[in-house]
Amino acid sequence: MKAVLCKSYGPPETLVVEEVASPKIDDESVLIDVHAAGVNFADTLIIQNKYQMKPPLPFSPGSEVAGEVLEVGSKVEHVQTGDRVLAITGWGGYAEQATAHRSTVYPIPGDMDLNKAASIPTVYGTSYYALKQRAGMRSEETLLVLGATGGVGLTAVELGKLMGARVIAAGGSDQKLSIAAEYGADHLINYREKSIKDEVRALTDGQGADVIYDAVGGDAFDQAMSCINWNGRLLVVGFASGRIPEVAVHRVMNKSCQIVGVLWGATLIKEPEINRKNFEEMLDWFAQGKLRPHVSNVIPMDRAAEALGLLLERKSVGKVVLSMRGG
Ligand SMILES: NC(=O)c1ccc[n+]([C@@H]2O[C@H](COP(=O)([O-])OP(=O)(O)OC[C@H]3O[C@@H](n4cnc5c(N)ncnc54)[C@H](OP(=O)(O)O)[C@@H]3O)[C@@H](O)[C@H]2O)c1
Repeated sequence: MKAVLCKSYGPPETLVVEEVASPKIDDESVLIDVHAAGVNFADTLIIQNKYQMKPPLPFSPGSEVAGEVLEVGSKVEHVQTGDRVLAITGWGGYAEQATAHRSTVYPIPGDMDLNKAASIPTVYGTSYYALKQRAGMRSEETLLVLGATGGVGLTAVELGKLMGARVIAAGGSDQKLSIAAEYGADHLINYREKSIKDEVRALTDGQGADVIYDAVGGDAFDQAMSCINWNGRLLVVGFASGRIPEVAVHRVMNKSCQIVGVLWGATLIKEPEINRKNFEEMLDWFAQGKLRPHVSNVIPMDRAAEALGLLLERKSVGKVVLSMRGG
């Protein structure tokens, strides 16, 4: 089979495509004929040895896939050969075949397109866990999403709206923010042109946002700390800006607010039951058309560097997907 390989750490251009042996399953895993793999910001980090997970070289990046089941281990009962599934792979997804543990393999709802299905696991898994379990967000609360045009950000907008929040979407371009509006954002802030702090204060009668979802860090985080409401929760999701911010803790005390960490990937091992229930709920919502994955670009696997470049250059909206079946 063909696979995109990271043979030495470096930027996306250092990735190569080569023939490799098919991966083997154990009793508890599933072999998948991969049609598409979701592209995540973390993939840009793992190939540069800047991510918390460090698979031994050479490896294929790619933490999520969609495709058809080729083979199941003896202890796998919920899916069988030929089923259409989406799955979390950790890494190894940028390949024509990949394996996943049975606990992270889900049947695809209805006749959903496989490119869209591949875009689901990480972004929806992260945002639902963040808003539901970590923030305990209630309907009627005000949610501010930083990086609202990106993979995780757009799902936070969509899920926040579905959960009944008033959603303020902050992003870096009017054009990209118009998609956030289509996904339910009530207010838009272009943070390349306007102050997040001033806009949010104006929109909330000076009170600030109850829940802040931050996948950007840097200056956006600094401003968010100046427009968080009393009892607010600021969700630390990521640092797409490249700067990990710092905060003087008296500011946390003065607002009686919380800064709450979110590390969704670890819940797969530490709290698998929470993750399973979250996915069951969301897969129902997909089947009912209440959630609609947004894929801005489908790129053939031979052009993986271009796919990752779209994220690094802030040119994507929602998700980019790598296709193992052409563009
Ligand atoms: N904690 C967790 O469990 C978890 C799970 C998934 C992802 N993450 C993290 O969340 C962050 C976003 O991931 P993603 O996959 O959603 O990425 P993405 O699709 O590339 O979205 C990131 C967004 O951040 C904004 N941004 C602001 N400054 C940027 C910069 N200098 N470079 C690139 N983007 C910038 C961009 O929107 P504008 O151009 O509109 O500003 C972009 O759309 C990453 O740090 C990732 O590691 C964390």
